[in-house]
Amino acid sequence: MKLDVSSARQPIPTDLLVIILDEKLKFSEVDDPELANLLKSLAKDFQEKTIKKEYFSRWGGSINHILVFHTALNTSYNVWERIKLYASRAVSWGSDLNLKRVTILLNGPDAPAYFGKVVEGVILGGYAFERYKAEKNRYLDQAEISLVAKDEALDLCRKKFNRYSIVSNAVNECREIVNEPGCAVYPEVLADLAKQIGKKHRLRVSVLDEKALEKGGYTGLVAVGKGSVHAPRLISLEYKAPKKSPARLALVGKGITFDTGGISIKPSERMLEMKGDMAGGAAVLYAMKAIAQLKPSIDVIGIIPSAENTPDANAQRPGDIFVAKNGKSVQVDNTDAEGRLVLIDGFALAGELGATHLVDIATLTGAVVRALGQGYAGIMGNDAGLVQAIIRSGINHGENYWQLPLPEEYKELLKTPYADINNVGGPHGGAITAGLFLQEFVPEKTAWAHLDIAGPFLFDKPWKYFAAGATGFGLKTFVDLCERFEEYFPRP
Ligand code: BES
Ligand code: MG
Ligand code: ZN
Repeated sequence: MKLDVSSARQPIPTDLLVIILDEKLKFSEVDDPELANLLKSLAKDFQEKTIKKEYFSRWGGSINHILVFHTALNTSYNVWERIKLYASRAVSWGSDLNLKRVTILLNGPDAPAYFGKVVEGVILGGYAFERYKAEKNRYLDQAEISLVAKDEALDLCRKKFNRYSIVSNAVNECREIVNEPGCAVYPEVLADLAKQIGKKHRLRVSVLDEKALEKGGYTGLVAVGKGSVHAPRLISLEYKAPKKSPARLALVGKGITFDTGGISIKPSERMLEMKGDMAGGAAVLYAMKAIAQLKPSIDVIGIIPSAENTPDANAQRPGDIFVAKNGKSVQVDNTDAEGRLVLIDGFALAGELGATHLVDIATLTGAVVRALGQGYAGIMGNDAGLVQAIIRSGINHGENYWQLPLPEEYKELLKTPYADINNVGGPHGGAITAGLFLQEFVPEKTAWAHLDIAGPFLFDKPWKYFAAGATGFGLKTFVDLCERFEEYFPRP
């Protein structure tokens, strides 16, 4: 797909001219009086709900077809999200009717503020997982999509284009790797990807293999990885801010490349979705790629503890006990609660690397999906400011979080007669007991937030501007959090 920004010379020769209307905001201006008249009457029809869908029609002159949206449609999302939805719909129309030259008219006074959202909608909407399909959609290779900005706003729009392209392409790369099956993506593969990204974008990358993990006392990763032919890895990528930064943000992503449940094996129905149990790790990996290009003003460390969780004669058993890096003994009551066991090794490394703030992201519990459904990720933490900052950054980019509490008294549920802590907390409040478990392993004096993305990481049907499959959830939040970090947490 060729996507570019151009200035507003009219008439515009195009196969499909796309216009978005709003009751108050003016996203576009048209010179052609006939078209202007039509848009006026369409606006009325949309607002009165006489038209309930996008308007598509043949047109004349240099414009072959027009496609008109109004923000009065799809009322369930805010304007930003709707703009992305329409941009992705425009790509679908282009693809379905094989209209190669698509022009989205964004030369109105209010368009610059939404320009990045259009870029995002086009890029995310244009993604499909096609690697294993014999017949691929060739439209996207040939399509030429132009975003028309007005001359005075061209510089600003180009900046937004650049920023949103970097992030949206990173999201698509993240989706690709999450959609890949477990036979293609295992811990070594993630480690190699991290090395490639580090080399290209000048991040310091370190990978601990099974021997180094054993030696370093990363017992959670060793225990979870024992049953697999693919040995575990602890991956880290370090970004250094251009100027000295007092804060060091560690992003720790669960990298279970397939979760069968281990000896506590899962039912087979929908088990295939557990190929995406590294979605948190992938969000961290590709957020680091975007961060390396956007160069925010704080230090960021991406950490991905990665293993495959499988049953085997060598696998850990229910009831096994290991001593974690911080000295606490952990009983593995259920081998399917494996994410928290690898995350705590990531926490230990974050502490060793001097993190002041720690955010983990994981497809951690089915319980959070039962509580919130797929539209929201659960968020918990020990620092109200950090939790609020993440919620804000998420809203900025259409990633929703809902906070769950971490009640002191529920810690009882994690008690066991045999060790310091049990890895499961019983049938109630599973997302919360998982959060409470993690909290016990947060390095001292570290602000921490935990994102449970088991709901929104993957959809089996298309959702918003996403094709069925992985969404890359969390990546956009992380980039925004880094960009606004100094605004959220001003230096003393
Ligand atoms: N990876 C799963 C959680 C999950 C479930 C993610 C559905 C995405 C969709 C996790 O490792 C797991 O198996 N959790 C168990 C925990 C239980 C044993 C306490 C669960 O949620 O059932
Ligand atoms: Mg599991
Ligand atoms: Zn899992």
